[in-house]
Amino acid sequence: MRLKDKVAIITGAGSGQGKAAAKIFAREGAVVIIAEWNEVNGKQVEDEINAAGQEALFIQTDVSNENNIIALVDEVMKRYGKIDVLFNNAGVGFSSNSKYKMDRLTETPLQDWNQILSINLNGVYLLSKYVIPIMKKQNGGSIINNSSLNGIIGVPGADAYTASKGAVVALTRVMAVDYGKYNIRVNCICPGAIDTPMIAEVMNNEAFYSAFTSNPLRRVGKPEEIANAALFLASEESSYITGLIMPVDGGVAAQ
Ligand SMILES: NC(=O)c1ccc[n+]([C@@H]2O[C@H](COP(=O)([O-])OP(=O)(O)OC[C@H]3O[C@@H](n4cnc5c(N)ncnc54)[C@H](O)[C@@H]3O)[C@@H](O)[C@H]2O)c1
Repeated sequence: MRLKDKVAIITGAGSGQGKAAAKIFAREGAVVIIAEWNEVNGKQVEDEINAAGQEALFIQTDVSNENNIIALVDEVMKRYGKIDVLFNNAGVGFSSNSKYKMDRLTETPLQDWNQILSINLNGVYLLSKYVIPIMKKQNGGSIINNSSLNGIIGVPGADAYTASKGAVVALTRVMAVDYGKYNIRVNCICPGAIDTPMIAEVMNNEAFYSAFTSNPLRRVGKPEEIANAALFLASEESSYITGLIMPVDGGVAAQ
């Protein structure tokens, strides 16, 4: 019970890494708030966790919509009176059903560029903007941002995504510096290729698959392997760690 009695908001918890984190955090004793824009998936994760005798609440949320975030935070405070953990995980990437064009910048329409940044970057900003004042009053909290390997090394082909994830890395550092004095820790995970719906389609492409598995551990990661890193950063076990940019990538960043 490493998160006993903690209240944790996880964005994008209807799928992939966020869903894995929701289940693991709930199993470790947290009340989990599933802040997800996909109603079917969000509700399903809520049901699965509650059916296992743990506690979850789905609140339909678009992380790029400020009014949604205000309503989300208000609802959580009304019900639970505190927010201990924020896992800024929601994002759009190479998904087969992505509405946005993932390509080099010369091939990226401005509208898609703006949409990708408004979810992957502004979402982190907006959630943090409304959660930090609460954590300040509580004298503490843990924020975990889910960036990407693209945020720390040059991976060609999805430049708006890469720009958004690089910005999340920089934002993590400055948040850690700005809010450390309030005992708010801010850390960042940089996943390598993780087997979730986001990359399901490109996993079937031989060139992508061999690129994804040409890391020292010679395989793609599992969503639970990111969720366990997030659990460590959410829990008191990491109480002296802030500003950490943590690759969880099978060793790609070490090459
Ligand atoms: N899968 C990978 O290989 C990989 C690698 C590096 C980083 N990441 C990052 O990990 C995070 C989780 O991705 P995943 O792999 O679990 O993918 P996923 O597609 O399975 O899950 C992403 C979730 O975010 C939700 N979401 C997207 N936009 C949203 C919005 N505006 N508001 C609320 N929810 C929204 C989606 O509905 C989905 O449930 C993302 O930030 C992604 O960029 C993924």
